[in-house]
Amino acid sequence: MTLTEQKQELTAQLEPFGQQHLLDFWDEISDSGRDRLARQIAAIDFSRIDSLYRGNLDQPDWAELSRRATPPPAVRTAEREQGTGGELGVTPDEARRRGVESLRAGEVGVLLTAGGQGTRLGFDLPKSLYPIGPLSSASLLQIHIEKVRALGRRYGVAVPLYLMTSPATHEQTVQFLEENNRFGLDESDLLVFCQGTMPAVDIETGKLLLAEKDGLFLSPDGHGGTVAALKASGAIDRMKARGIRQLFYFQVDNPIVPVGDAELIGYHLAAKSELTSLAVAKTEPKDKLGNFAMIDDRLHVIEYSDLPDDVAELRNSDGSLKFWAGSIAVHIFDRDLLQRSLELKSSLPFHIAQKKVPCLDAAGNQVVPEKPNALKFERFIFDLLPEAKRPIVVEYPEQDCFAPLKNAPDAEKDTEQYVHQMMFAQHRRWLEAAGAHLAEGTNIEISPLFALDAKEVAEKIEPGRKFSDSEYLSPSPTA
Ligand code: UD1
Repeated sequence: MTLTEQKQELTAQLEPFGQQHLLDFWDEISDSGRDRLARQIAAIDFSRIDSLYRGNLDQPDWAELSRRATPPPAVRTAEREQGTGGELGVTPDEARRRGVESLRAGEVGVLLTAGGQGTRLGFDLPKSLYPIGPLSSASLLQIHIEKVRALGRRYGVAVPLYLMTSPATHEQTVQFLEENNRFGLDESDLLVFCQGTMPAVDIETGKLLLAEKDGLFLSPDGHGGTVAALKASGAIDRMKARGIRQLFYFQVDNPIVPVGDAELIGYHLAAKSELTSLAVAKTEPKDKLGNFAMIDDRLHVIEYSDLPDDVAELRNSDGSLKFWAGSIAVHIFDRDLLQRSLELKSSLPFHIAQKKVPCLDAAGNQVVPEKPNALKFERFIFDLLPEAKRPIVVEYPEQDCFAPLKNAPDAEKDTEQYVHQMMFAQHRRWLEAAGAHLAEGTNIEISPLFALDAKEVAEKIEPGRKFSDSEYLSPSPTA
């Protein structure tokens, strides 16, 4: 095909959707640039983008929905501490027993989404590579992988890790894993797969944005892209072949997630739930967390930005928040639910957000917008919640499960310094519970391979042991 014929063919494809501007620079760009652009155009479902743009106003009316929402079925921290198990009637001991059984049987896999970059942190690489260990400088990814290995070691099984990257993070993540020998994880226990992308469109016109003369602006399709990417990568079949029945899902930014926590898995099994979510109790009505809520008998996450102030501020008679359950993006999925969601005709919906997207103007000049100029489309994994049968929410104290790295140093919370403090505080609690003494100002970081939790710390540390200097506790090379 000649260049002119190729251009004509692409124009015919773009014209019905008013997107022929994508070829404005066709005659100026190189052969490889034309190839790239043509490939990107071929991968776009223009009619879907068109209806997403036109349907922009048809987003769920969260304000209205949240007014008839009720709090979710849950096991609360107080009930766990009292050993009652709340409305589920399952004690923490019983839950742990069930969870351990399933872990020992090799039924649990770990699903980690790491499609994000460190841009918001001023870090040029994938966020998963961020050296968050306060003394060790271990990356987020190293800490998570060490937890997966430690979990397998504790229960005498190989626990597989399904790691999702995005086109923006894939190569660097794979290279980092290779350079570090997958942090000791066996090759057969790791599947790295890449999520898809979506273009962004101009708010005013619905026209797709170009990042360069020979390239569309594309960004990851949201962590909801996990479902389609699991299918495309064959991961679900591999899970089935390995006998994996539950997936412990989490996002890369939180280094204190209790990966593969037996108690959480146990509640999931005891409730015959298809999706169990970990929650923390919000301290403020407008905490920047998704809110778990039941709407018409189905569990939903209502994003903090979608929850109207008056609903967020509703309180129970004891003064506690009605919508107390903040999502920390940790879930247990039944493999069957993932499988079923792949077969559903209506796949996860796209959420539409107004964003500032640097792009080319009609003359081909780079524009860095000062206000939102574009609509971006993302799928969210928590939109699987309404599909799930018998969903439940389990509350853990924030200090035990949630310290995400999201913001640059000047922010109030979720900065590197905040995460360091949360890690040190957790490890101090574990050591002190084991009877150790830490001198004032002494900070200890514990590698998951040294001890995964307070119980393992107690097995390793003699009561009365004194720590007078800050130290990174990691397994000795011979261990
Ligand atoms: C998210 C949740 C929020 C929850 C909070 C807890 C959404 C929309 N909101 O907010 O309900 O309370 O986390 O921390 O998710 N990711 C990908 N690919 C993508 C997009 C995201 O892998 O295309 C993963 C990355 O690991 C990323 C993480 O999801 O670090 C979080 O995504 P982000 O967009 O930062 O969500 P938050 O606004 O932090």
